[in-house]
Formats: sequence, structure tokens, C-alpha cells
Amino acid sequence: MRVLVTGGAGFIGGAVVDRLAARGDDVVVLDSLAAHPEAPDLPDAVDLVVGDLNDEDAVDRAVAGVDAVCHQAARVGLGVDFDDVTGYVADNDAGTAALLRALWRRGFTGRLVVASSMVVYGEGRYRCPDHGDVRAAPRRRADLDAGRFEPRCHRCGTALAWAPVTEDAPLDPRNVYAATKVHTEHLASLYGRESGARVCALRYHNVYGPRMPRDTPYAGVASIFRSALEHGTAPRVFEDGAQVRDFVHVHDVARANLLALDSPWEGACNIASGEPHSIADMARALAAAHPGAPEPVVTGEYRLGDVRHVVAAPDLAADALGFRAETAFADGMRAFARDPLR
Ligand code: UD1
Repeated sequence: MRVLVTGGAGFIGGAVVDRLAARGDDVVVLDSLAAHPEAPDLPDAVDLVVGDLNDEDAVDRAVAGVDAVCHQAARVGLGVDFDDVTGYVADNDAGTAALLRALWRRGFTGRLVVASSMVVYGEGRYRCPDHGDVRAAPRRRADLDAGRFEPRCHRCGTALAWAPVTEDAPLDPRNVYAATKVHTEHLASLYGRESGARVCALRYHNVYGPRMPRDTPYAGVASIFRSALEHGTAPRVFEDGAQVRDFVHVHDVARANLLALDSPWEGACNIASGEPHSIADMARALAAAHPGAPEPVVTGEYRLGDVRHVVAAPDLAADALGFRAETAFADGMRAFARDPLR
């Protein structure tokens, strides 16, 4: 099978490429190399097309003769501020549109797997002890300033308890990146309807592991803490550290992509470990694997765009794709403390 992996020189795309190449697939990578200008670490047999998704000529060369497409290229993270909006939209929305147009013009009806994110849900799922399932509104600055971090019930003001998010949860993007991921899913699914291609979107939870990008405004918290420990400084845990995420190892995410490429299932599913942990837990697990490193500090700082808890229900990926994460949190974090970053 000839498979195009967009963003195949990156963190997650690279892990997908390694697995596809190892099982003998014919792999073509389209990557701008903008996020990692050093020579890409790709298996020998892989064809590399260097170019942006908005470079028509590069995209046309990359899609020629492919049986399946795994679309990982994107500008990720929270960014610096709203000034990033045009960059995110150009790379993620217009970039995906350009890829889909090239596939359309080629008459592509093969398998299309796109990288999405748990950020499409905004805040996760919450329950009020008295009012059952309730939607959490964006948290108010006054509450955050006062150290009241839990979202509150809009009817009675009680602090809400989190529950695992299932894929039928309403889409509620709360930052520009999240909005571009919702649009990526929608454009890909429309392509499927018009062309007959079978499309699957994978909503990654917090991915970590070897070759994760270093500490930048676009990096996730695991890499920020890992970089701090490497420099002998304490990880700074925001809020009260009790915010919960699902950290899923990049090798599991790569495996999920291959299962999705091999499956005819259409739809969107969570790709998660099913083993939720608080941010403070994660900081402690990483620090424990760095002998002599300073203990994490819980700072009470907050970022207005952050959501409080996002915990995935991993069942649909198991039923639809046969995906279950295999890397346990403790083992994955211990290894990540020493894994190379880039
Ligand atoms: C992250 C990614 C998002 C991705 C999603 C799923 C970023 C910025 N966000 O979202 O792009 O789609 O995972 O894979 O990459 N925190 C600290 N200290 C810090 C930095 C962050 O305590 O120095 C806390 C934040 O306040 C937040 C939590 O860690 O509560 C997670 O932050 P982060 O990894 O940045 O973002 P997510 O919302 O989990």
C-alpha cells in the first residue's frame, strides 16, 4: 500500500512513518520541515516531498499514486495570542483544503485518516450532584483570580465533577487551534461524502513521547516540564494542579493510526490511554525519574484559554478500531524523562 503521511517528519507523523515503513508499506512524506529544520530522521525507503500544504506543486507530487492518506501536518498548540490566527487558519484550514482539492482532482477514493484533537470538545464533560449532566461555561476571571478553578453549575453554583467525554459530546472549540481542528474534521468528512472515500478522524488526547518538540509556546505541558527538569528547574504547575488530562504515548497514537488506515470505519474517535492523571501527578512522575531534580511547584497561576479537565472515554476506539493503549502512565513517563526531545 502506498501511503502519504503529511507532517511525516514531525513528532506524531514521524512515529506513524516508522511503523508503516517497518511493516513494508511504501511511504511518501509531505513535510515543510518548517517546525524542525534539522535533517529529518526518516527511514531510508521513504520518499520525501519538501513543501507546504499550500504549495500546489508539492501536494500534487505527494498525492500521485497513493492508496491512503494519513493527514498529520498542522500547526499545533495554543499559540502566543490571537495574532497567530492567520497562521493557524492558513496552515490548518487552507492547508487541509488544498490537500483535499488535490485528492479530488486526482479522483482519490482511498482511505483518509486525519489528526484531530480533544480540543474540539472545549471543556470536557461535567456533572452537578443536583442537576446531572451540565455544560461548563468558560471559567470567569474573577473565579480564577480567587483560586476557584472548578467549573460551576450554572443553575446552583456548585463545583462540577468531571466525567469521561464520549464522541457525541457537542463540539465547542475555545481557541483558534481548536476551531481549525473542528474545521479539519468537517472538511475531511465532506470530502468523504462527495468522493466516496472513507474518512476517519482521530481525536488525540495529550500525546507525549520521544521526539516531542521542546518547550515553545506551541508545546504541550509534558514537554514543558521535561525541558524544565533537564535544565534543573522546577516544573511550574498552574492552578492547583488537580486539573486532569489523559496522557497517551506517541507509540500508541502511531498504532492507532495504522489501525485506522487498515479499517473501513468512518467517524471520529478519541485516542487516549484511558488512564487519567492530574497535571500535578504528571509533574511528580517526571520529577521522580530525574534524580536530584527540584520538586514541582504548584503556582496558582492560570491561563485564561485553558480548560479545566478533559478526560476521554476510550471505548469507541476499542470497538471501532480495536485500539487500546498499551503504554502504562508510570512506564511511559519514566521513559519520557530520558527520551530525546527536538
Ligand atoms: C494539549 C495541547 C493541544 C492538544 C491537546 C491534545 C498545547 C498547548 N496544547 O492541550 O494542542 O490538541 O493537548 O493533545 O500543546 N500547564 C501547567 N504548567 C505549564 C503549562 C501548562 O501546569 O507550564 C497546565 C495547563 O494549565 C493545563 C495543562 O497543564 O491545565 C495542560 O496544558 P497543555 O498541555 O498546554 O494544553 P491542553 O489543554 O492539555
